[in-house]
Amino acid sequence: MSKKRYKAIDKRLITEGSEINFNLFLPNEAKSAMSLFLQSDTAVDGNAKVKLREIETLYVSEEDEERYNEYVAQHLQSIAKNSDIPTEEKARLVYAKASEAVDAMFKDPESLENVKNAQPIVNNLIDIILQDNSAVESLMKITAHDYYTHTHSINVSIYTLSLGSYLGIAGKDLEVLGMAAILHDLGKSKIDYEIINKNGKLSDEEFTQMKLHPALGHEIALKLGISDERILSGIRHHHEKIVGGGYPDNLTGDQISQFARIIGTCDVFDALSTKRSYKDPMSSFDSLRLMKQQMVGHLDMNMVDAFIRMLHKQGKS
Ligand SMILES: [Fe+2]
Repeated sequence: MSKKRYKAIDKRLITEGSEINFNLFLPNEAKSAMSLFLQSDTAVDGNAKVKLREIETLYVSEEDEERYNEYVAQHLQSIAKNSDIPTEEKARLVYAKASEAVDAMFKDPESLENVKNAQPIVNNLIDIILQDNSAVESLMKITAHDYYTHTHSINVSIYTLSLGSYLGIAGKDLEVLGMAAILHDLGKSKIDYEIINKNGKLSDEEFTQMKLHPALGHEIALKLGISDERILSGIRHHHEKIVGGGYPDNLTGDQISQFARIIGTCDVFDALSTKRSYKDPMSSFDSLRLMKQQMVGHLDMNMVDAFIRMLHKQGKS
C-alpha cells in the first residue's frame, strides 16, 4: 500500500466546466487503497459531474493540497453562487480568502492591485448574503471574535452589506457600499503599530493619533484614484456623530452620507461584539442594547433600528 497521504475534500467545490490541476482520488472498493478518479489537467465535464454524484468523498494527495486550495480560491465566485453548497461552508471559504486579501491590503495600502482584489471578495459576500435569508447568522458564526484590523474590516463589510441590502440598496450600489466598508479603516495602515495593537485603553495623545485614520484613509483612496464620493465619504466620515462632535470634519445629521452612517453603525457593533485584549466581547443583544440606549446622538438611530430588525428577521427565517 502506498505511503502517500490524502486529504478528504468537499466534492461540491469541484466546479463543472473548470479544469483541475491536481489529481482526484477515491478509495477502492475494499477501501484499502486509493484509485485515481480524475487526472490533473482534465476538464470537469458533465460526465464527471454525474459520476461525482454517486461518490461519497473525494481525496487529493498531500502534495496536491496547495494546488487544490488555489483552485478553490480561483473558483470562489461560482462556489459563492452555488446554492447546493451550505452557506456556512461557503462563508468559511470566502472569509478565509477575504482575510488573506485584506491582510495584503493593509500591508501595502498604496497598491492599487491589492485594493482591486477586494472587489471580488465583496461580490462573493453579496452572492452569499443575497442567496440565503439567514446568511448573516452563518457569517456571524465564522466571523473572527478577536479584534484585528483586517478581520474587523471584513466583519464590518458583512454587517454593512446585510444592512444595506435590508434597506433596499442593490446591484452596483451595494457593490460600492461593500467597497466603502472593506476600505473604511484603510488609514489605520498609517498609524503606529503599537497604538493599533495596544493592550489597553489609549492615552489622550495616542487617541489623537488614532483619530487621524479616517482622513489618512481618505488621502490614500484619493491617491489610488478612487473617485466615488460614497466610498470616499464612507472612509472619511464613519466616525462623525449625528449631533456633531465626531471627527475629522465635525459634521452633523444629513451632512454625514448614508453610506458613512451605515458603516458607522456596523463599525460600533463589531467593536462592541468582538474581544479586545482589555475587554470581553459583548453578546449581539447587549451590543445592540448599548447602542440603542447610550449612543443616541452619536449613531443614526434609524440605522440602529434597521440593524435590529434585520437581525431579528434573520433569526426567524
Ligand atoms: Fe475607523
